Amino acid sequence: MTHSQVHAIDWQQQHLRLLDQRYLPHQQQYIDCFNAADVADAIRAMVVRGAPAIGIAAAYGYALEALHGGDLQHAYQRLAESRPTAVNLFWALERMAALSHAGPEQLVAEARAIHQQDIADNLAMAQFGASLLGEHSRVYTHCNTGALATGGHGTALGVIRSAWADGKISQVYAGETRPWLQGARLTCWELMQDNIDVQLVCDGAAAHLLQQQRKRNQAIDWIIVGADRIAANGDVANKIGTYSLAVLARHHGAKVMVVAPSSSFDLTLASGDDIVIEQRPASEVTELQGQAIAPAGCQALNPSFDITPAELITAIVCEQGVIPAPSRDTLAALLTR
Ligand code: MRU
Repeated sequence: MTHSQVHAIDWQQQHLRLLDQRYLPHQQQYIDCFNAADVADAIRAMVVRGAPAIGIAAAYGYALEALHGGDLQHAYQRLAESRPTAVNLFWALERMAALSHAGPEQLVAEARAIHQQDIADNLAMAQFGASLLGEHSRVYTHCNTGALATGGHGTALGVIRSAWADGKISQVYAGETRPWLQGARLTCWELMQDNIDVQLVCDGAAAHLLQQQRKRNQAIDWIIVGADRIAANGDVANKIGTYSLAVLARHHGAKVMVVAPSSSFDLTLASGDDIVIEQRPASEVTELQGQAIAPAGCQALNPSFDITPAELITAIVCEQGVIPAPSRDTLAALLTR
């Protein structure tokens, strides 16, 4: 199976073209980036989002700066400040900075290699993840972890795509994912393009759905999600709402699969307590598409990610294999092999 046809990140020889994900699914608009600052702004504004895609875009941003004779240290800084939680950003920048003395062509080649590697990793994870699913599985996913969030194919959505193609999935549920609605706008769009049966639910419907499906003997078998950063003990930072789903899964007997490439692991952090959670503007909660939905002057909190403790996760899948019952020992056993 090949990766999805969606090209969220498109290298155009002398500049980078990004699909502006803020306008999906109803408009397909593109933004052209000519230097690192353009790419950093696009990452911060959510034009491009999803941990692996952020890393890939940042790598191209660094290469663009080299192509146009800019200051690479400054470029690194600008890009590193764009969003704090997805470790793929820092992983990609470190890889690029290691070649800072090479020519621009070599930096472009490195960015392209990071992009290609991500696609290959997605396809490997998809096979490992799909192999964990039984026949006629019902799965629930959160946020968008598909071709839009990665180099192509996807992490959690890559597993769902491949398992669907293998005939192992009978139903996909997608949580809408407030406040940016990545589930409603992006995941449903990607799945419907591939003719994969998906039902969209409000985030608040997850508990009811897990309870009712089980009572009808049609239990949701797996919650399948991605990750923005995985600490050495297997704690996972992912889109706000993931932790709630993992708690619900434990109560209702569903399993939790986290799918992420090794570029999403941060073994320098002992646990999820050390992960910086991005706080985004309150207006993203008090407004919907520029329209106020809360009283004028209403205060709001907008943490963009939460931490799911390793003990609530059944398995982490990366391109190197499956980490069952994630812990410091099981992570180290797979990743240092
Ligand atoms: O704020 P976003 O849209 O960048 O958040 C994306 C997520 O939380 C994804 O689940 C995660 O990055 C994994 S993407 C393959």
